[in-house]
Amino acid sequence: MPRTHKRHDRSDIFIHWFNAACWLLLLLTGVGLIQNPAIDPFGSGYPQALRSLVGGGAALLALHEGIGVLWILGFVFYLIVNFKGARFFLAEIFSVSPARDMAWMVRKMVLMTLGPKALKGVGMDPELPDQGYYNMGQKAFAQASVVGGVVIAATGVIMLLSDRTFGADSTGLVGWAVTLHFIAVGLVFAGLLVHIYMAAISPEERPGFKSMFTGVVPDGYAKHHHRLWWEKIRNDGE
Ligand code: HEM
Repeated sequence: MPRTHKRHDRSDIFIHWFNAACWLLLLLTGVGLIQNPAIDPFGSGYPQALRSLVGGGAALLALHEGIGVLWILGFVFYLIVNFKGARFFLAEIFSVSPARDMAWMVRKMVLMTLGPKALKGVGMDPELPDQGYYNMGQKAFAQASVVGGVVIAATGVIMLLSDRTFGADSTGLVGWAVTLHFIAVGLVFAGLLVHIYMAAISPEERPGFKSMFTGVVPDGYAKHHHRLWWEKIRNDGE
């Protein structure tokens, strides 16, 4: 058995960090676009300061739109370069085995909050069921970020076009686009807080974090965290 296993291609690593950088910039500029004293997430000082920094509200909107278009183009580029990888990723994250994966999700949440005694106390096995290439937590976040990402991109394009070409009869469509854009960003952002904790801060996932730079994980980590994937690569070859 090799001591490490390939987990991510160079293009997968590129698209992940490109996406993370775009998300950061889109959040920073997007929050700055909200200038309403009733709902400003960071108070009215932040949108004001950002507008002065970039040369006004119109320039800030153009910057947010520009980063959004670049974000979409980045994904188009990734799909051209590694369509096979994208197909593998989508097939993995949307294949859920209800009994095994839901049991994993419930037990993992109890283990992380109340500990193994709470599971034993209600007669449940504290061992987590084996997981595949992604565990159910990773799959849930990946599903939300793919569906949310498509909604954010589509509604963003509608809003972008509405500034330039749509007439007054599209007001309803644009109103829905604004609402769904906010809801999707909120949902993905909530998952992102957990994702960043699990992927970058939690010590037991450290080899997974390193793999987002090196592309490989140690054999022991693959065996312990992604047993079904480990068995598959052991039987089929890498
Ligand atoms: C500081 C920011 C981020 C860090 C440190 C981070 C870290 C990681 C790591 C280490 C993995 C690899 C997990 C593995 O394969 O074992 C990963 C995967 C992934 N990341 Fe991120 N990520 C960040 C931001 C984002 C953002 C902004 C998104 C999307 C909105 C995102 C979406 C994903 C998805 C869909 C996966 C694959 C499924 C998963 O492992 O959850 N990440 N991330």
